[in-house]
Amino acid sequence: MGISPLQTELKKFPDGEKYVRIHGEIEGKVVTIIQSMAYNPDEFLFEFLLLADAARDLGARKVLGVFPYISYARQDTRFRAGEAVSLITVGKLIRAVGVDSIYTIDSHRHRLQDFSDILKIPVTDLTAMPLLANYVRKRVKLRDTLVIGPDAESEQFAHTMAKELASSYEVLEKKRSGPREVRITARNIDAKGRDILIADDIVSTGGTVIEAARLLRRQGAKRIVVTCTHPLLVGNALKQIMAAGVERVIGTDTVQSPVSVVSVAPVIGDALSAEARH
Ligand code: R5P
Repeated sequence: MGISPLQTELKKFPDGEKYVRIHGEIEGKVVTIIQSMAYNPDEFLFEFLLLADAARDLGARKVLGVFPYISYARQDTRFRAGEAVSLITVGKLIRAVGVDSIYTIDSHRHRLQDFSDILKIPVTDLTAMPLLANYVRKRVKLRDTLVIGPDAESEQFAHTMAKELASSYEVLEKKRSGPREVRITARNIDAKGRDILIADDIVSTGGTVIEAARLLRRQGAKRIVVTCTHPLLVGNALKQIMAAGVERVIGTDTVQSPVSVVSVAPVIGDALSAEARH
């Protein structure tokens, strides 16, 4: 965007309390706080709240939040009696510190059309799929590509990816029976001899793409490459994914990982520049 970021000072006291300080003049300015929440969501969320509240208190004209990876998105409803609906709580906290609107990237909106409905604040959900597609086009060189969404919810990602690569796409069916246990089935997928590109939002334990890769191999797929926006890759997920016959996993830097080769900075920059023009 051609602007310099303000410096922030973040410290932790010996008892674990957080201290934040914003250096520089922000009175009357539009302040954007970019904070990804992977791996340590509670701490990063609280840091964000302190920064946003301080910015508001110091006279910011507008406070925008950018969450390249937003945690708690999967707990957007009460699946079992007594559960907290964590995403609603996150929304209340963000609103309470005076944030005007937020940006997310390929957020886990499986049961919701629009995150604004649950967070009760304007949300723009950006997508990294065109950036991932561009990387694949330039660096991976697939032939006779079939894009695969590993479950019904990933249709949106497979659709965009296929459009960008001018190829066809199919969506598999997934049933989850535990955090790591998934069963994937497919109807009439023509994978024989083709290069497969799996597109999803999150790869966490790898359970989903491992099952999808096994199925596609059985169906005669030639090469299998995985793209995802948020490569959480917990534990030895990456190793297990490769052992299932995946040639490569390509992710973005919304989450730091060994496969975070695509930067989402351009998509955030474009969105913030458009916001600034309004
Ligand atoms: C779930 O519906 C998401 O889109 C991903 O497919 C899921 O979070 C991946 O998780 P895992 O890698 O643990 O199977």
